[in-house]
Amino acid sequence: MATLAKEPELEVFLGRGQIAKRVEEIGAEISRDFAGQSLTLIGVLKGAAIFLADLSRSLSVDATFDFVGASSYSAGRHSSRALKITKYLDMPVEGRNVVLVEDILDTGTTVVFLRRLIEQHQPRSFRIAALLDKPSRRLEKVEADYVGFRIPNHFVVGYGMDYGERFRNLPDIYILPSSHPE
Ligand code: IMP
Ligand code: MG
Repeated sequence: MATLAKEPELEVFLGRGQIAKRVEEIGAEISRDFAGQSLTLIGVLKGAAIFLADLSRSLSVDATFDFVGASSYSAGRHSSRALKITKYLDMPVEGRNVVLVEDILDTGTTVVFLRRLIEQHQPRSFRIAALLDKPSRRLEKVEADYVGFRIPNHFVVGYGMDYGERFRNLPDIYILPSSHPE
């Protein structure tokens, strides 16, 4: 967003070129792992929508899309442990190779919750792709199978990620000003 980009203290944390290159690499890796098979990409709304859009176009295997809405962040920076399902899956995942696509793996609460939910429906396989990983914040025992970038505990926005629903449409990723490690 122009107003954000104009703030003098703001610097791009991960630039669009860097992101695009890494997303291509992950796409190639997933395509190798699932060569000759098909996939169901399940994006976690809303943050992963842009990552899913780019990742899906870097795959050389057949992929269907689905989206699940889960929200643990209300409007601010702090995660509450309560999760709300805001949209359920449209299509059955039984017998499918599922890749859950997340913007950030943070405490792990969201993906652990969704993994449990999806695995009840007997997918053929289940993997997690996270564009960003903040391992220092983890509360659950979970790792992503595909990680774009491991980052320190900064609050970031852009490329799908928001602060109070803003900034999702920024093409680069920024550290939100005055976000300090907790
Ligand atoms: P978890 O359940 O704590 O792993 O939370 C993951 C979700 O919190 C992510 O999918 C994001 O939507 C949100 N989140 C965590 N860190 C950030 C951040 O730095 N910026 C924006 N959203 C974040
Ligand atoms: Mg999210």
